Amino acid sequence: MFYPVFISLIAALGGLLFALDAAIISGVVPFLRDAFSLTGGQIGLIVSSLVFGCVIGVMVAGAPLDKYGRVKPLIVSALLFIAGVLGAAFSDSVGIFVTFRILAGFAVGISSVVSPMYIAEVAPSNRRGFLVSLYQLTIVAGILLGFLSNYWLVDIDSVNNWRIMLSVMSVPALIFLAGLFFVPESPRWLMMKGEEAKAHSILTKINGKTYADHEIDIIRKSSGAPADSGYKLVFSKLYRKPLLIGVGLAILQQVTGINAIMYYAPTIFEKTGLNVDSAIYQTILVGLINLIFTILAMFIVDRVGRKPLLVTGSLLMALSMLLVSASFYFQLHSVITLIAILLFIAAFASSLGVVMWVVISEMFPAAIRTRAMSLSIVSLWVACFFVALIFPFLIDVAGVANTFLIFTFFCFINVFFNIFFIKETKGVLLN
Ligand code: BGC
Repeated sequence: MFYPVFISLIAALGGLLFALDAAIISGVVPFLRDAFSLTGGQIGLIVSSLVFGCVIGVMVAGAPLDKYGRVKPLIVSALLFIAGVLGAAFSDSVGIFVTFRILAGFAVGISSVVSPMYIAEVAPSNRRGFLVSLYQLTIVAGILLGFLSNYWLVDIDSVNNWRIMLSVMSVPALIFLAGLFFVPESPRWLMMKGEEAKAHSILTKINGKTYADHEIDIIRKSSGAPADSGYKLVFSKLYRKPLLIGVGLAILQQVTGINAIMYYAPTIFEKTGLNVDSAIYQTILVGLINLIFTILAMFIVDRVGRKPLLVTGSLLMALSMLLVSASFYFQLHSVITLIAILLFIAAFASSLGVVMWVVISEMFPAAIRTRAMSLSIVSLWVACFFVALIFPFLIDVAGVANTFLIFTFFCFINVFFNIFFIKETKGVLLN
């Protein structure tokens, strides 16, 4: 089991890029606001520009994936990310900053499709859920690392600390880049290219010869199926329902407000009356709780099942988000806000966080899997983009309490969606 975990983990490092940025930008915002005298709207533009790049990245990722495989696009993504974060770190105007952030976002968009797809393609089917959740694990580990780096770097240089915070991200991206030279190409893609012998030897390395023989047989059969029928098949009546459910799951994960907290945590904590330093410190707690509950979810998702986690988790998210809103409305003590936010994060991490990625990687039949997954992920980024863009705006015009009330409403929508539309996929064999 070492080899599939090793190669999945390296591919999963793609999640680090996105996560580090999400976390680090939250620490950068208060300093950038002062350095460039930013308005709420400009802050929204700066934070969400990365996500805008992601949307473009996901949309253009499809075609090269079929032509160049999975590993090369991941290498390109690591390189572009390094260029993007360093460019932003050394920029002197909002325009240049946003341009490089879009480039970094483009890179993140590519890896957000390719990383989970690659893992799903190399993972033995009985471990697929666990291995795909490694992607979420690197996301939350990256978020925590980002928060920690904000905390360590907050006092390093009062003028240029945001530049240092941003440059730090190139280090894990370099590790990701180096690791990619040790992962093999996806056997499924090699089969598409007619390289059966190569695919067989990689599958043997992953899980032994019997497994390789069996998988080759399955891939051979399914490549005779309409796997290459393009988006026409995905949008056909036959697959409309699973597609809508996948897209719905991805959008609903975002409109809970998870990334409003992830991207703007120190700003939110500042609103409770804390100074920037302790706000960043509390943000680390957010990252830690996220990591602990993600690990918990990874180990129970195959036992408890997907649906019970989604339903109870989203209900707990709704209740804790309501408490966050109330704590601002009634101006309760900042500790109550902190506890409510931590409860929300714990509920998210053990439900929608891990389970959304697992479900969208296993719910689609092989004939539409890659395209339906890309469409779901693009919807996720678009939703994420809008939440990040309008959150500071909403806070300005509607106030913090009402903004969190809107998120509460969407958490309740999640509960209903999970009860009525999600089918249990635990233990279901993928075709
Ligand atoms: C979501 C991200 C989010 C992260 C937080 C992921 O499942 O897709 O948007 O930032 O969880 O842990």
